[in-house]
Amino acid sequence: SFLKVEKEPLRVLITGAAGQIGYALAPMVARGVMLGPDQPIILHLLDIQPAAEVLNAVKMELIDAAFPLLQGVIATTDVVEACMGVNIAIMVGGFPRKEGMERKDVMSKNVEIYKAQASALEKHAVENCKVLVVANPANTNALILKEFAPSIPEKNITCLTRLDHNRALAQISERLDVPVGDVKNVIIWGNHSSTQYPDVNHATVTTGSGEKSVRQLVADDQWLNNEFITTVQQRGAAIIKARKLSSALSAASAACDHVHDWVLGTPKGTWVSMGVYSDGSYGIQPGLIYSFPVTCEKGEWSIVKGLKIEEFSRKKMDATAKELMDEKSFAYSCLK
Ligand code: NAD
Ligand code: LMR
Repeated sequence: SFLKVEKEPLRVLITGAAGQIGYALAPMVARGVMLGPDQPIILHLLDIQPAAEVLNAVKMELIDAAFPLLQGVIATTDVVEACMGVNIAIMVGGFPRKEGMERKDVMSKNVEIYKAQASALEKHAVENCKVLVVANPANTNALILKEFAPSIPEKNITCLTRLDHNRALAQISERLDVPVGDVKNVIIWGNHSSTQYPDVNHATVTTGSGEKSVRQLVADDQWLNNEFITTVQQRGAAIIKARKLSSALSAASAACDHVHDWVLGTPKGTWVSMGVYSDGSYGIQPGLIYSFPVTCEKGEWSIVKGLKIEEFSRKKMDATAKELMDEKSFAYSCLK
């Protein structure tokens, strides 16, 4: 009766692990925040040669933290060694946006990296490896990764918009002065950029007398249709301005939420936002990685279907799709 069946360890790759997000993310994963408190982990940490010493220091600290779930740490600058046998790949590595830089400026630097790493993942990760791209431009990097890793199922390649989703929940929670855990079913549509559309039309708050619509509770369409949307869209830029660095702890936490819900499932009646390969739902053309509302079960996400979309939302959903099409052509033009 004291027999304890240990789960097999899962290998989690973090690229860019010597960076800001990596420093916040690696200990979260090693503590079980991402894959659960009973899931042993082997961390694969990748960075580039100039960061090798810092990367090794991260490994030293992870060992010093004596995380009970952490069964091994591989810190390497060799992309093949990094990808070998990984079950989950969190792609954080790349060149971050600095104050004053447009996303376009970082694009050309990053698409080349994602093309190269796509091949390594395809060859060396486990067959059903789940991939989360965090590095910007996240949707387009994920698309490049998908296109250059044709043997990885397209359902397995996603990008992070959960940070935007969480930011939207937090704005509503602050406005209504309710616990953030009682707010649910906001949606982030489209690109992880300032054209994203944070949509509250289906969002609810759990109250003592049941579920109430966010729109009714806020009772201020002017705020919801303007300031709320721009605050969420511009939050990344606001953090960069204040911190002189892009968001890191909230990005790491959102990456954990994304993979956690993908692998372990979303609660009944709750959806989350994930950047996934479009199947044409809601008139969004296939061939883009676009953020949709999804539910997850048994390690598979599905887009929430049949939500009513009115004119205001339609325009904003199309505008962010248009930006993604432009990014896609620009990315391909960088790849020559
Ligand atoms: P950072 O500069 O602190 O870390 C990036 C790391 O990547 C560095 O250590 C760098 O050496 C490494 N790197 C560069 N090229 C690499 C390569 N080819 N292979 C492996 N590693 C490589 O940046 P950060 O603050 O940790 O941010 C990482 C990325 O995440 C940036 O692109 C940033 O814009 C993005 N980001 C995304 C979200 C989101 O919600 N999707 C939120 C915040 C930040
Ligand atoms: C964020 O959302 O915090 C970052 O993606 C901002 C950025 O552009 O790096």
